[in-house]
Amino acid sequence: MIKLLILPEVLIDAAQKGGDSKALLEKARQEGFQAWVLADSTQRLVLAGIASKKVAETLQGFAQIPINARLSEEALALGGNFENQLVKLAAKYFKIDQIVGLGPERKREEVATLPVQDALKLTEDPLAKVDFMNLFLQVQPIFNQVDGWYMEIINNTAFAGGNHVAAFEEAFATYCGTKYAVGVGSGTDALRFAMLAAGIGQGDEVLVPTNTFMATSESVTQCGATPVFVDVLPGTYNMDPKAAEKAITSKTKALLPVHLYGQPADMDALLSLAEKKGLLLIEDACQAHGATYKGKRAGSMGAAAAFSLYPGKNLGAFGEAGAITTNDPEIARLAKQYREHGQSKKYYHASEGYNGRMDNLQAASVRAKLPLLDGWNQKRRERAQWYFEGLGKVSQVTLPKEADGAQSVWHLFVILVPEAQKLMDHLATKNISTAYHYPVPLHLQDAYQFMGLGRGTFPVAENAADHLLSLPLFPELNKAQIERVIAEIKAFFGA
Ligand SMILES: Cc1ncc(COP(=O)(O)O)c(C=O)c1O
Repeated sequence: MIKLLILPEVLIDAAQKGGDSKALLEKARQEGFQAWVLADSTQRLVLAGIASKKVAETLQGFAQIPINARLSEEALALGGNFENQLVKLAAKYFKIDQIVGLGPERKREEVATLPVQDALKLTEDPLAKVDFMNLFLQVQPIFNQVDGWYMEIINNTAFAGGNHVAAFEEAFATYCGTKYAVGVGSGTDALRFAMLAAGIGQGDEVLVPTNTFMATSESVTQCGATPVFVDVLPGTYNMDPKAAEKAITSKTKALLPVHLYGQPADMDALLSLAEKKGLLLIEDACQAHGATYKGKRAGSMGAAAAFSLYPGKNLGAFGEAGAITTNDPEIARLAKQYREHGQSKKYYHASEGYNGRMDNLQAASVRAKLPLLDGWNQKRRERAQWYFEGLGKVSQVTLPKEADGAQSVWHLFVILVPEAQKLMDHLATKNISTAYHYPVPLHLQDAYQFMGLGRGTFPVAENAADHLLSLPLFPELNKAQIERVIAEIKAFFGA
């Protein structure tokens, strides 16, 4: 993805004359490019006598870099031509690849500008570094919206709670197909408050897959209950319903399946097991925003569900945030109470609780992103498909399995390979980043040694921990990059 900063002179030229400048703006709106302009561009276009409608048309789709006090002070301190220094700083802070100007290539105060004619010939470098994820690329399409909202939040000093929290809650509940959504401080808060609100506590056992992130099990303990680990299924790496059934005791109160890597767990089997045994089912949907199971959204199937809105998730805030979804008014009411020190109304506490509110700045960031989530998930599915096609015939690679009825949103794309570490090292030498999710299953973590569950207890999860490698996958990754990853994996295995 090439990031361009388009100078006002090009915008004015495009609006006045069209030609190459206009063609460049069109190119900059296409996939593979991201265009930024300086926030005074609107003013420049208006002052150049361009009609409002045309100004809006010219700037449509471009994120505007604010010329704020920090940028201005720094530009002044650098000395020389103020405007050129601003451009230089904007390009630095917004990680711009090319600054596009009119006329011949020139250097202004060490700012190299590229003429429009050359910018029109730009193509992505097929050998560019392949990041594991790149959060900055997600910022551009929502930047103007969030910039405006952040100014409004600061002006209104509406920091904790506030209008964006309520608006996000309503929009997210609608998106998930639930009656309620409750914004909280993190996915871990969401798990904890959902379980507490559902009545899980001291003396209860909660079944947790052993192949997941620590937050799934620690939140059970933090509710006063006991996590009981169960193995996962090969291929989907999600909770094995048969293993869950075997782990049920007279103390079992709930199942806590995780929709891991973006794929819903085997919900028909797990929901019918919960019903048969009179158990609650709480979904850990922290990695599965927008995924569906037989047409139902992740987060809408259990008594309640927890979402993480951590920055790297498919729907990620600009910091820590999370949400609970439920159709149960009592769970929603109690979750709101737990997020705010057990308050039933200001300074009246029905119970002890937590400081687990979602803040307004985080809410505004995910509120701006939510309308783009389905498009991003669609791109993730398309990219996963490229991996399936490219790696399908490599005998050493076991691809993940999308179970019947499940539509994964591919938060992570994991492959099972004989020598994961060697493959990771090989890819690193080719400038391709990969990761492990997760290198140690929960039952083998030091934190749970007291349970005495040694190696061999949960073989599928142990094999996953030893052999799974997560490949780069995010919506802005292009086909050439994925083809490179595929080619390097094939080269490693001599396939
Ligand atoms: C499966 C799972 N559960 C729970 C969490 C916890 O979410 P958070 O980090 O927002 O507290 C995460 C986040 O990494 C997760 O992946």
